[in-house]
Amino acid sequence: MNLAVIGAQWGDEGKGKIVDLLAPFVSIVARYQGGHNAGHTVSVGGAQFVLHLLPSGILHSSVHCVIGNGVVVDPEALFEEIRMLASKGIEVGDRLLISEKAHVILPYHRELEMHAEERRGSRRIGTTARGIGPCYEDKAGRRGIRIGDLRDTSDDGLLADAIRENVLLRNQVIRGAETDWRALHTELCASWVRLERWVGDASLFLTNAIRKGQCVLFEGAQGTLLDIDHGTYPFVSSSNGTVGGICAGLGVGPRSIGAVLGITKAYTTRVGEGPFPTEVRGELEEMLREKGREYGASTGRPRRCGWYDAVAARCAARVNGFDALAVTKLDVLDGLDEIPLCCAYRHEGRELTEFPSRTAALARCEPVYEVLPGWPRNPTAGIRRYEDLPAEAKTYLQRIGEVAGVPIALVSTGSDRADTILVAGGLIDQWQKKRAVTAS
Ligand code: GDP
Ligand code: IMO
Ligand code: MG
Repeated sequence: MNLAVIGAQWGDEGKGKIVDLLAPFVSIVARYQGGHNAGHTVSVGGAQFVLHLLPSGILHSSVHCVIGNGVVVDPEALFEEIRMLASKGIEVGDRLLISEKAHVILPYHRELEMHAEERRGSRRIGTTARGIGPCYEDKAGRRGIRIGDLRDTSDDGLLADAIRENVLLRNQVIRGAETDWRALHTELCASWVRLERWVGDASLFLTNAIRKGQCVLFEGAQGTLLDIDHGTYPFVSSSNGTVGGICAGLGVGPRSIGAVLGITKAYTTRVGEGPFPTEVRGELEEMLREKGREYGASTGRPRRCGWYDAVAARCAARVNGFDALAVTKLDVLDGLDEIPLCCAYRHEGRELTEFPSRTAALARCEPVYEVLPGWPRNPTAGIRRYEDLPAEAKTYLQRIGEVAGVPIALVSTGSDRADTILVAGGLIDQWQKKRAVTAS
């Protein structure tokens, strides 16, 4: 059974850790959207890997990785990541397939994004400045350049024409330092020579693999609340990180998605601008940020921190059809006497239990908290068996599952691969047992 791993919040839920943990049970890990705006951190025995574009299964030598058509690819960022892995002894080799339909992020996309953010002023989105938005704009505007287009290296071919046209548009928006389209064309032709070995038909590869009974893990980037359609628009990224993005972003049928695992922190964080009802300020925010090391893996920006938001979790469960949740970073709440958990919002005198679909309404919501006892003297950090958790931590987890309306299948108590609790009889326990039977 193929599994989707999807962020339930505003990104950085710990998807990378969970994907790396589950990767040995699958043949293929596939990314279907986003680009190198993602930062997925994997910690293994003291070594740390931050993956941006490559799927987080890449650390396992038996796993093939796919970058689907829905992903936007900056070739230089990809080469840099492959170099970084090689320097740590991980060879990508022939384990990578990039869809020839994936769009290419070009230097002018980053320039256009910076220009747009400056113009927005106080209404800026606080993007990662990786050129993600403008690249998807070109895709939707049907003027984008796809990886497969790079094979046309002639001076007067379709690629050269497309670059010239796009650079002309860019030069109309940003006056002054103009981009030289010929230099860019030469650069892209050089990139093609390095990329060619990995480029192919990802939809065909995945569909054939699934038909042969191989198991695929679909790795979401960003999170439900950053989804272009279902997130807190316009303070979102430019792709569908929710489950619906999988079919469009990889070219696989809906029945290939066997189960959906939502990843959520035991509290909430957000990088960038936009409403965040359970955000806390002052000492508590500092405490969560420092204990959780809440600094962006891509940009180093401090993440905004707040309490668990079950209203948002219910929305994520609905939009993605979560079968189970993985709750990460429970250990960050160690030491607290009490833990507020937001079960509803107050909006214009009324209590709301469903996430408002208008971002302007969300911005005016106040959290309604239920306060649960903490476990100040019994740390959970590093605990690997459910029964060893303090009773209060079990109650907290149970409440998260109840209010989100989704059972919990995994609990993470530290950044290392090994610091994880598998909930007996839960989705992942059953899935792993089935995988083990199939493999034997
Ligand atoms: P992703 O973007 O969803 O993959 O998440 P990030 O990697 O950006 O951020 C999650 C951070 O939390 C990373 O630094 C992980 O190493 C770390 N992490 C993951 N799970 C746990 C956990 O259970 N406890 C602690 N303390 N850190 C964790
Ligand atoms: P992972 O996969 C957290 C946020 C940015 C900004 C908004 C738009 O690591 O969870 P963009 O550059 O995508 O146009 O920025 O989205 N953002 C993320 N926040 N985790 C991410 O990825 C993010 N990717 C984008 O901070 O608010
Ligand atoms: Mg991240």
